[in-house]
Amino acid sequence: MDYKYMLLFLTLGAIAALSGAQHENIPYEDVNDICETCVCLTAHDGDKRYHHLLSCTLKRFKHILSRWPEEFGKNHNSVDIVATFSYNNIELLQQLPATDAKLTFSCRHCGIKYLQEPTFIDVPNIRRLDLSWNEITSDVLTPGVFRGPYRVDHYEPIDLVDLDLSHNKLHALDKKLFEHTPNLTKLNLSYNDFTVFNAPTIAALSSVTNLQDLDLSYTAIKTVSASIFKSLVNLRILNLSGNQLTAVPDKLQLVGSSLMALNLAENPIERFTEQSFIGLKSLQSLNISDMPALKAIDKRVFTHLETLRRLDCAHNPKLVEFDLEGLSHCSNLTNLDISYCALTTIFVIANVTNKSETGETTLAKPWPHLHTFETVGNPWYCNCTLIQSMEYIGLPQGSADSAARCDTPYYFAGELISNLTSQQICSLRIPKKFKIVEEEPPRFLRKRYIILSVITAAVVVSVGVLIGFAIAAIRRRLKRDDFGVEPIRYTSVRSSNLSAFSHGNTNSIVVNGNGATNGNL
Ligand SMILES: *[C@@H]1O[C@H](CO)[C@@H](O)[C@H](O)[C@H]1NC(C)=O
Ligand SMILES: *[C@@H]1O[C@H](CO)[C@@H](O)[C@H](O)[C@H]1NC(C)=O
Ligand SMILES: *[C@@H]1O[C@H](CO)[C@@H](O)[C@H](O)[C@H]1NC(C)=O
Ligand SMILES: *[C@@H]1O[C@H](CO)[C@@H](O)[C@H](O)[C@H]1NC(C)=O
Ligand SMILES: *[C@@H]1O[C@H](CO)[C@@H](O)[C@H](O)[C@H]1NC(C)=O
Ligand SMILES: *[C@@H]1O[C@H](CO)[C@@H](O)[C@H](O)[C@H]1NC(C)=O
Ligand SMILES: *[C@@H]1O[C@H](CO)[C@@H](O)[C@H](O)[C@H]1NC(C)=O
Ligand SMILES: *[C@@H]1O[C@H](CO)[C@@H](O)[C@H](O)[C@H]1NC(C)=O
Ligand SMILES: *[C@@H]1O[C@H](CO)[C@@H](O)[C@H](O)[C@H]1NC(C)=O
Repeated sequence: MDYKYMLLFLTLGAIAALSGAQHENIPYEDVNDICETCVCLTAHDGDKRYHHLLSCTLKRFKHILSRWPEEFGKNHNSVDIVATFSYNNIELLQQLPATDAKLTFSCRHCGIKYLQEPTFIDVPNIRRLDLSWNEITSDVLTPGVFRGPYRVDHYEPIDLVDLDLSHNKLHALDKKLFEHTPNLTKLNLSYNDFTVFNAPTIAALSSVTNLQDLDLSYTAIKTVSASIFKSLVNLRILNLSGNQLTAVPDKLQLVGSSLMALNLAENPIERFTEQSFIGLKSLQSLNISDMPALKAIDKRVFTHLETLRRLDCAHNPKLVEFDLEGLSHCSNLTNLDISYCALTTIFVIANVTNKSETGETTLAKPWPHLHTFETVGNPWYCNCTLIQSMEYIGLPQGSADSAARCDTPYYFAGELISNLTSQQICSLRIPKKFKIVEEEPPRFLRKRYIILSVITAAVVVSVGVLIGFAIAAIRRRLKRDDFGVEPIRYTSVRSSNLSAFSHGNTNSIVVNGNGATNGNL
């Protein structure tokens, strides 16, 4: 307890010191014997290239180190260093210790609020930087943070390729934020509360022309400006999931020749039209799952997406129609997920035929490379069309828990679709539907069988009761004649029979009556 209070006290002290003082005089953690406190690892690959790892996670550090461990050697030319300080309490990220090595640096969950500018001036070869899960605000993130050493009349750029700023407190970017990082190809801004991209933010994003992978998920945005797409001509992966988009962003086709993966999941989009994905001629992966408002995917929506391999369209509770035929041009399709929607049917015509060498024509599969087809969780209407389409696609046999089942018509409700064959279903004609319905329940549930059973039971019961009474009467007379005394236990048996009968427990009457008959005859 005392220890914790002391820590708190020290932290508060540090904050007080920070707010007043310049950053220059802040101490670093003690680097002596650091490899005893942290984990240091060294390996070298076939090319004799050294890889050093320094892991100081969860060490209650308040600062990083002022230099690299002695164990990493003096010359860092053609050396890789991976350093992590995640899960410490580093409110101010100080200038990183100097090295020429290719550096990967992470400090996630560090509580970072401030960055000592220029933070990376002594590590110009930093490649990857992960500062996710911190408290970095827009004011703190200035272009100066990323500037390299000063040379003659300008600042050198740094080699940053991959920057993760997810889960911070950004709501805008400085328009020149990326002026010192020309090689940035991967940028993660997810889980920051942007809401709208203001002009400087748009300018900043538009300036990263080498960007290939942009994660803007969960940033509360409603639109993405077309000018961003105009500049990002190398964009390959775009994640816009978990936002407030009501339509596919305008002019997305400006990145159409490079864009390979698009994630639009968890957006309030109601409908996709033929125009939605026009011009996305390289798209291989599309995620349109988890859309609570999605009601319709118009015909021909996917016809433009010939290169598509993977389509995720799951958990769309209002989606009642899905035009599978539109996907027939996507010959490379490998994964199709339409699980947990509100689909009752799908329809694919067996169109493509395959001529074998012997001249026989057989049906070619619509998607020869398809290996995953998820259909579970839809209220399937199991008629001929559906079962034929499923057979034609070639539904892989899933386990019973994850396999699709019929919802209607009721006599197939709960049946595994993979258990039905089109031979079986297609021979049931629609006009015969009512006969089928009558013939379907098991024998003992049919009306005339039920009536017959009730009558039989009643007859058996009455006969049993009558015989019982007759026997009892005869016995009484016999006993009185033979012994002149009435045994008490016989009376009790009879009276219990009668009381059971008066309570409607006919079974016990029948059994007892028969028993009595057997025992006495
Ligand atoms: C950016 O990448 C290019 C090509 O890989 C390289 O020549 C250049 O030095 C890099 N820029 C910086 C600032 O490292
Ligand atoms: C971006 O960050 C989030 C949260 O840290 C993570 O889940 C996601 O995978 C990252 N995106 C990319 C493209 O790496
Ligand atoms: C965004 O999507 C990309 C690829 O579609 C994925 O790698 C990344 O993890 C996603 N980000 C989040 C926060 O889920
Ligand atoms: C598609 O997005 C949903 C919701 O974000 C996610 O759960 C799912 O894993 C994504 N699918 C793929 C293949 O990335
Ligand atoms: C399908 O994949 C092959 C091999 O990767 C590729 O050559 C071909 O162009 C693809 N077809 C389409 C329509 O994208
Ligand atoms: C069969 O497929 C071809 C292209 O693969 C298409 O042009 C044609 O319209 C289809 N026929 C029918 C009846 O759908
Ligand atoms: C068409 O037939 C050839 C050989 O007869 C076979 O290798 C190929 O897999 C078939 N294609 C489809 C799509 O069934
Ligand atoms: C099967 O059901 C679907 C949807 O209700 C319908 O469009 C289709 O015509 C039906 N097929 C047959 C053969 O009845
Ligand atoms: C599927 O068919 C098998 C054999 O015909 C049967 O034993 C099984 O109970 C069926 N499963 C369901 C869920 O109806």
